[in-house]
Amino acid sequence: MVTTAYPPGPPLPRAVQSALYAKWRGVLLRASARRYGEVFSLRLVAPYAENLVVFSRPEHIRAIFAADPADLHAGEGNRLLIHIMGEHSLLLTDEDEHARARRLLMPAFVGSSLRGYRTLVDAIAKTHVDRWASGSTVHTLDRMNDLTLDVIMQVVFGLTDENRRAELAPRLRRIVNINPIIFFGWKYPRLRRFGPWKRFDDNQNAIDELLYNEIVERRAHPDLDGRSDVLSRLLAVGSGENPADAPLSDAELRDQLVTLLLAGHETTASALSWACHELAAHPDIQERARRAAHDGDEKYLEAVLKEAMRLHTVIAATGRKLTRDYTIGGIDLPKGTVVSTSILLAHHRDEAFPDALSFRPERFLDGEVAANTWLPFGGGVRRCIGAGFSLMEGTAVLREILTRQRLSLPPGAGPEPDGIRNITHVPRRGARVVVTSAAAD
Ligand code: HEM
Repeated sequence: MVTTAYPPGPPLPRAVQSALYAKWRGVLLRASARRYGEVFSLRLVAPYAENLVVFSRPEHIRAIFAADPADLHAGEGNRLLIHIMGEHSLLLTDEDEHARARRLLMPAFVGSSLRGYRTLVDAIAKTHVDRWASGSTVHTLDRMNDLTLDVIMQVVFGLTDENRRAELAPRLRRIVNINPIIFFGWKYPRLRRFGPWKRFDDNQNAIDELLYNEIVERRAHPDLDGRSDVLSRLLAVGSGENPADAPLSDAELRDQLVTLLLAGHETTASALSWACHELAAHPDIQERARRAAHDGDEKYLEAVLKEAMRLHTVIAATGRKLTRDYTIGGIDLPKGTVVSTSILLAHHRDEAFPDALSFRPERFLDGEVAANTWLPFGGGVRRCIGAGFSLMEGTAVLREILTRQRLSLPPGAGPEPDGIRNITHVPRRGARVVVTSAAAD
């Protein structure tokens, strides 16, 4: 057991640090980094890690992401989600189980598969943007959530039945908007017979029933091999001869589907709504992006999205729990410590991003961005499996918006504050923008 003390950190009681971490994470992290330097410790209470050590320097990030996944467990740090995503979830497993699931899921997320999804994503984006009346104020966070949920249900899940989608969508939204009081029901199971806890469980059971029905029907689909959605690909996987590649069981499929449905929509929606906000706030950049949209220059649109994700955190950090005493950047840490790569702090380092608080998509075109500095999708063997998917989707949506609408900030709108919805950071006021049909010019 390493005896070295943890790196310094705020001397506040655990409960106070946890409350700040829950509600004012950016303020706590920035103040701690200013006071204690680029490596510091936080002492927290459940559901957070008891001892969290926060890193943001590129060389530390590299060491964490390149470590042997047997030494640094990511799944263990996400255990709270087990009640929602299930024990087989890619987010919650480690080592062999994680590697197997990742190997089976990966083909659905590689470049050639992504290109195959694009036409459907374009069509869904068009249907949604068609609903924006010229001259209206659009709550972009809500509208992007509707859109990205539709994309994930149709493209990932292959849910073509509109009634089933209409049934599933509000139930998934209820999970995204989970009231933190529900967490107590997981600690004290007797609560789950009552009120909000019972309603939450009933909602989960209804989702499971929908998912299992869809799995059974899809297994029997006469053209399973010809379908390109992720569920159908997963059902087709595995010969059964190699135990490591045995087909996924229904329970595994259910857990991976819930994970993809939830991890894959609010994150992209938040990034897109921040992009809309920044485009509305910077008419010159919006003009360049509009030209890019008309010319099919998707590199620039992707740069807009990447810069929105850099400037505005979507997921604030990744966590890895040490399974043994371990040294990172010369700092000895004991087994059980959770090491956090702070995406939020890394993205605002002036050394990596000159004039870091300005919105400047060009920095992603000029070849300026160094390795281990831009980390919205985490890294290493746990890097977000949907990273390419969300960039493809986000670019398609921005192109659809910009070729049809002009965006401006509502009168009197000030800078948009950041808020935390469970895990995801979102524009607190919903990043409202006024849309005007480009055809009306
Ligand atoms: C802007 C959009 C998104 C952001 C910012 C984001 C961010 C992240 C982050 C930070 C992680 C943790 C990585 C780590 O621990 O190193 C992660 C993991 C994951 N994400 Fe995303 N994500 C996004 C979109 C998506 C999409 C579209 C999907 C699926 C369709 C998805 C599915 C997942 C899954 C399954 C994992 C777990 C990967 C593993 O543990 O092996 N995400 N994501």
